[in-house]
Amino acid sequence: MNKMKVALVGLGRIGKIHLKNLCRNFPEIEVVAVMNVFDESKAIADEYNIPVFVKDFDELLAVDGVDAVVICSPTDTHADYVIKAAKAGKQIFCEKPLDLSLDRVQDVLQIVKECDVKLMLGFNRRFDPEFKKIRQLVTDNAIGNPQIIKITSRDPGPPPVSYIKVSGGMFLDMTIHDFDMARYISGKQVKEVFAKGAVMVDPEIGNAGDIDTAIITLTFEDDTMAVIDNCRKAVYGYDQRLEVFGSKGMAQAENNFPNNHKLYTEAGVSGDLPLHFFLERYDASYNQEIREFIDALVSGSEMPVDGNDGLQSIAIGLAAKKSVAVGRPVKMSEIL
Ligand SMILES: NC(=O)c1ccc[n+]([C@@H]2O[C@H](COP(=O)([O-])OP(=O)(O)OC[C@H]3O[C@@H](n4cnc5c(N)ncnc54)[C@H](O)[C@@H]3O)[C@@H](O)[C@H]2O)c1
Repeated sequence: MNKMKVALVGLGRIGKIHLKNLCRNFPEIEVVAVMNVFDESKAIADEYNIPVFVKDFDELLAVDGVDAVVICSPTDTHADYVIKAAKAGKQIFCEKPLDLSLDRVQDVLQIVKECDVKLMLGFNRRFDPEFKKIRQLVTDNAIGNPQIIKITSRDPGPPPVSYIKVSGGMFLDMTIHDFDMARYISGKQVKEVFAKGAVMVDPEIGNAGDIDTAIITLTFEDDTMAVIDNCRKAVYGYDQRLEVFGSKGMAQAENNFPNNHKLYTEAGVSGDLPLHFFLERYDASYNQEIREFIDALVSGSEMPVDGNDGLQSIAIGLAAKKSVAVGRPVKMSEIL
């Protein structure tokens, strides 16, 4: 059987994870080429015996027989690369977000549709075993009708201000995962967003025009509510918790720890801090999302996270931004 040929672009934090998984865990595919703008990244390609390393996306697309492209480059390249890949007839996995402009996202999705290729967005948390289990409990009706979804999502520390300036802001860069999680868990559409934001971690983040601490309330079409709390800095590490409360009970996913030991002494009870950040906490999810991308390509089934999921999360992020700016709840109909 011919192996599916995959090319990958962007060899930073997330690109290296996807490259490792693609090369080590999926014998049914072959990574035939990678692209990065810097020569130094060739060493990473060599480490995985990738036959072709290029510094230009058109050259990557021109590599013989490429079936699918995995896009892990910076956010401001995603829309261009997705359009080029679609026009070249490639199947596409693209990291979130697709773009920071809703109009641009809509244009990209139209082109993807016209080119009749598949597009999956990298909302990896849907593939986390803990959160998948909670979703399963919801769909199995184990907790009855969901009434309140609570998502805690706090980073161990903020990224550099240079990153924040081009990130699109906390809602589009960080909370976008939580918006997608709320949609995934509820399986419903958001109708209204009410957000409060503040600068409490670093005044430089405020000077860059962003916030670092926020609470967002989402109201779904059936009046289910989700509350998300975010902070760019939690001194005890990466805080990722989820709770769904419903008419028959409640389901919770706690933080993940490197081990489950507890030390009990007369001074108190202690244990290790949560897994430090996303590369550790969501390691299994990155592998599983690529597994499901490949499976969907092989079977011809729908992508588990599609372009519309990408669009909806960006629209919710823009509604949250507007809500902070105008100080009132914002209806999704004002945005989309
Ligand atoms: N799903 C997740 O959990 C997750 C986590 C982190 C980042 N991301 C997303 O992945 C993307 C990359 O983030 P990162 O943290 O890996 O960034 P990064 O800065 O660590 O890596 C970006 C890589 O792209 C390369 N690059 C720069 N300009 C390029 C260009 N024009 N064409 C091709 N490659 C180029 C850089 O050299 C670098 O290797 C972002 O869109 C980010 O939002 C997603």
